Amino acid sequence: MSIVITGATGQLGRHVVEALLRHDVPAAQIVAAGRSVGKLADLEARGVQVRAMDYTDPASVANALAGATKVLLISGSEVGQRVEQHRTVIEAAKAAGVELIAYTSIANADTTGMKLAAEHQATEDLLKDSGVPFALLRNGWYLENYTEQLQGALAQGALAGSAGEGRVSAASRQDYAEAAAAVLVAGDQAGKVYELGGDLAFTLAELAQEISTAANRPVAYQDLPASDYAGLLAGFGVPQAFADILADSDLGIARGDLLVSGSDLRELIGRPTTPMPAAVRSALAAA
Ligand SMILES: NC(=O)c1ccc[n+]([C@@H]2O[C@H](COP(=O)([O-])OP(=O)(O)OC[C@H]3O[C@@H](n4cnc5c(N)ncnc54)[C@H](OP(=O)(O)O)[C@@H]3O)[C@@H](O)[C@H]2O)c1
Repeated sequence: MSIVITGATGQLGRHVVEALLRHDVPAAQIVAAGRSVGKLADLEARGVQVRAMDYTDPASVANALAGATKVLLISGSEVGQRVEQHRTVIEAAKAAGVELIAYTSIANADTTGMKLAAEHQATEDLLKDSGVPFALLRNGWYLENYTEQLQGALAQGALAGSAGEGRVSAASRQDYAEAAAAVLVAGDQAGKVYELGGDLAFTLAELAQEISTAANRPVAYQDLPASDYAGLLAGFGVPQAFADILADSDLGIARGDLLVSGSDLRELIGRPTTPMPAAVRSALAAA
């Protein structure tokens, strides 16, 4: 019995490994896999197996998945290259005979028109065609997408975006990680599809108001045409192609593509999700 976590060197992956340990999964049964394995030394010291894995190196993927019972495939971060990278992991998981792959997809993958969703939709199709038992963790937006940008908003006195009056069901990485761990330790997960998002959706105007109140400084939401917002992001150093994708994602929020109904996340983690105001306040306190 072993559970392989890909992308364990990343932020979500580390939270998942920690959550599995809290579930009393023996450390020796957890495989933390990633490229920069030096980042995993502390987990290795606690008995977690650490294996090097690069999605672009099929031999390393096969080695990391050898003997795996379950795999959490955390979607890669190299947008545009992810379908082939994920295919490599799915094929290796099939060869290893795993009993479950859980994949971190995107909210409302069946219906969303967001450009960022295309690789997730293609990966879901690969899973369906693979014959490997799988579960879909359709994650909504991270609260950290916003809380990691608070200082910029405070400095500008404005939170820019193209989401209009759209509401987003964001939750913390910790919330999504606990949900992933809950699925990995549970039985009978093949075929399950979880739509995961925060309990309380909010508009970006409400987010700006919360930042303003918590910091006691003026911050107003500034809604921009998508091309202007992408230009603004590019001006802050975001590569143009990714800036375009982020602006397109805000248009998705305006349409409701990142609004999650139901309570799958809350039910999996057994507690309310992290509220946006609490996340804003703790990020300000940590700054
Ligand atoms: N829902 C959201 O709001 C949201 C926001 C951002 C990202 N995401 C998605 O969720 C994933 C996890 O989020 P996160 O916050 O943990 O991101 P992160 O901290 O950037 O971690 C990404 C992980 O993917 C690994 N990775 C990237 N390319 C790889 C490759 N070629 N081979 C092996 N590993 C590779 C990274 O490994 P290294 O440490 O070696 O680079 C890292 O472990 C992201 O990768 C992205 O697909 C979701």
